[in-house]
Amino acid sequence: ELKIVTIGGGSSYTPELIEGFIKRHHELPLRELWLVDIEAGKEKLEIVGAMAKRMVKAAGIDCEIHLTLNRREALADADFVTTQFRVGLLDARIKDETIPLRHGMIGQETNGAGGMFKAFRTIPVILEIVKDMKELCPDAWLINFTNPAGMVTEAVLRYGRWEKVIGLCNVPIMATKNEAAVLEKSEEELFFKFAGINHLHWHKVYDRNGKELTAEVIDKLYGPDAKPEKIVENIKNMRFLYEQIVQLEMLPCPYHRYYYMTDSMLKEEQEEANKEGTRGQIVKRLEESLFELYKDPNLNYKPKELEQRGGAYYSDAACEVINAIYNNKGTRMVVNTRNCGAINDLPYDSAIEITSIITAHGAEPVHFGAFPSAQRGLLQLMKAMEELTIEAAVTGDYATALQAFTLNPLVTSGDMAKVVLDELLEAHKEHLPQF
Ligand code: NAD
Ligand code: G6P
Ligand code: MN
Repeated sequence: ELKIVTIGGGSSYTPELIEGFIKRHHELPLRELWLVDIEAGKEKLEIVGAMAKRMVKAAGIDCEIHLTLNRREALADADFVTTQFRVGLLDARIKDETIPLRHGMIGQETNGAGGMFKAFRTIPVILEIVKDMKELCPDAWLINFTNPAGMVTEAVLRYGRWEKVIGLCNVPIMATKNEAAVLEKSEEELFFKFAGINHLHWHKVYDRNGKELTAEVIDKLYGPDAKPEKIVENIKNMRFLYEQIVQLEMLPCPYHRYYYMTDSMLKEEQEEANKEGTRGQIVKRLEESLFELYKDPNLNYKPKELEQRGGAYYSDAACEVINAIYNNKGTRMVVNTRNCGAINDLPYDSAIEITSIITAHGAEPVHFGAFPSAQRGLLQLMKAMEELTIEAAVTGDYATALQAFTLNPLVTSGDMAKVVLDELLEAHKEHLPQF
């Protein structure tokens, strides 16, 4: 019998998670689910918590749902802890997006200056959670979904010294579904091999006879006759430079657009911000209408409207990872885990995002080997940037933060980097006690 704790339980994504548990209830005997939030999220927690209770009841499942603002009370004897919190709420995200954009840089939740600041705000909180877990549920698994998911996972491993952690993202699931559709095959007929870091990984595709289909998919998605690719809702579907993708001999992830197409993505972002607002501002409106729906006492299933959020299908990842660990399934999934030599080009202790086998002892990454120069150069630069960001998040050291800014390809280096860093430090100071 299982006790699961979800931190950031007031998230509008919670019905996804509940749906995932309901789908798997024959295999996953979940008896207690604790949704934890903070004072600022109390109203959301109550609305989505009541909806979660209705969903479970309608499914006829014997699972108690507890709502609490007391994290320590919830964590006692948990088997799995999932995290989906947002320090500083959407207002902080909007600052991460608007401030860099005002200085002519990409303003994005997990990339560039904004992504580094999300790490600065989030890492101290995740390390506090780990500290509580050591005391209250030392055998539990931490399934992290909180962004930036890769850096958060690495912080837990390196600084939290907590081994039982897996980080998740829905992007590989979206890609797998989309490419199977494009190839007119089922996902089971295909083998996907992903490697890289969160929001910056590449992959290859094979059929069940071992034939590689990567070039065919590249052609179908990015070739001269390509139809627009279906990607996550939060990223503009800008056409990649075909020759560049062909040279990679691997499929990029949607976030590569920020690095391979920086000028056109920036232009697009600026136009969108002027018209409809930044993604955070759009999400704020979306979230309000979602919570209006959730208030309906007759709504007892996940509404279709949730698909407008970028994190669609994440419950499939979160619930499936829990299922694979609990039932020692050996499921193949793309997760954030410790490298341990799977990617030759990155340090042994780095968190990477990679196709892995999930069993009761956690994630076993499938060995990838070495990347060609184009991938390796960007990957090593970004990993060094992540290391510095994580270190700055832990120590609050200004110069380390400045180095991270300088390495990040989406930040203009030099005096401008310092200007944006200082402005963001000031704007977020309430959530950055370490600086
Ligand atoms: P949200 O703004 O709804 O935040 C979720 C909840 O966290 C809120 O109810 C908020 O009150 C609560 N919260 C804030 N600080 C907290 C704390 N210290 N302890 C406990 N709860 C706290 O956010 P969202 O849009 O649902 O996204 C949640 C998180 O999941 C974000 O970090 C987001 O980036 C991430 N996310 C990740 C993926 C992925 O692919 N890994 C996909 C979607 C969202
Ligand atoms: C994608 C990413 C997530 C990100 C989300 C944003 O799916 O994988 O890591 O948080 O979209 O979605 P939103 O609806 O909040 O813009
Ligand atoms: Mn993600």
